Amino acid sequence: MATPLAQNAPFGSILAGQMAVAEYNNGAWGGFDVRPVAPLPLSPAAHVLHYGSACFEGAKAFLHADGSVNIFRLDKHIARMRQSARLLVLPEPDPLQLRAMVLAAIEQNRAEVPAAPGALYLRPMLIGTTPNIGAAATPSTAAMLIVLCSPVWDYFAGGAHPLRIFVEEHATRCAAHLGMVKTGGNYAAALGPTLAARQQYGVDQVLFCPGGEVQETGAANFLLIRDGHILTRSLDSTFLHGVTRDSFLQLAPDLGYRVEERVFGVEEMLEWVQDGEAALSGTAAVLSGVGTLLRGGQEIRVSDGGIGPNTQRLRAALIGLQQGIVPDTRGWLTRV
Ligand SMILES: Cc1ncc(COP(=O)(O)O)c(C=O)c1O
Repeated sequence: MATPLAQNAPFGSILAGQMAVAEYNNGAWGGFDVRPVAPLPLSPAAHVLHYGSACFEGAKAFLHADGSVNIFRLDKHIARMRQSARLLVLPEPDPLQLRAMVLAAIEQNRAEVPAAPGALYLRPMLIGTTPNIGAAATPSTAAMLIVLCSPVWDYFAGGAHPLRIFVEEHATRCAAHLGMVKTGGNYAAALGPTLAARQQYGVDQVLFCPGGEVQETGAANFLLIRDGHILTRSLDSTFLHGVTRDSFLQLAPDLGYRVEERVFGVEEMLEWVQDGEAALSGTAAVLSGVGTLLRGGQEIRVSDGGIGPNTQRLRAALIGLQQGIVPDTRGWLTRV
């Protein structure tokens, strides 16, 4: 059980005690085991350490009132991880094995799953381990797949605050063909522009809008919301296809919203936020309201600068489903 100190820990800074591990060698995945979290035996020549052959996932499992632990949209996260591996020319995890690894890791860490509004954050990770520093243009033929678990508590324990977001119209978050891949290099690429904007403008996040087209932030998708209408960028290779984004787009029609997915520009976004809402969606953020946009040195308030009623309503609907308060009619939860 978490100590009071742990409950104040930043998101992801604490690991549960056990991890599931499998290795790929000679063209096949071996079986997995669950073992105590410990440093990895890794050659300093490992492919991942030189050529960035790594991808990961981020999902959440929730403790329900009946004592069960429920993983949100596990199949969708597994499918995205396999796609990331494929696009990085890493050995694809076997979906059934990865599923079994996640379930086994949760089972072994069950005592560390926090009660709502906390959750067990799940972090499957895949790395290329072939020891060859000359392999810049050849894929790793050996790999390690690990499932880490991290107890996380209320992201907004001090109360949700409306976010300040810098509108970046020049720098890209990552290479255009890799935006849909969840790989460390993309986050490394976004870090410089994000830190610079934080320092200069005191913002929480950067909204990447290369060439004036609204894309996503460093760790979340971007939605515009009005009474009865949601607008977000249509899927392409340039940004991450968020599981949370997809979930809101599926839930929204039942709550009376029309969903529009298409490319739109910064000017249209600025018109929209005069009387509409803007929000970031993601596994960690759920749905976080944007209060202010910074563009070209100018501060633009999103409606009245607070967190809007539509954002709060959609967020509550998703959290209710995840926490077992609202029935899961879509089969999105996997019970452990
Ligand atoms: C770059 C990026 N975009 C979007 C998202 C949201 O994705 P998801 O809803 O699957 O967490 C994330 C979250 O991890 C992210 O890192």
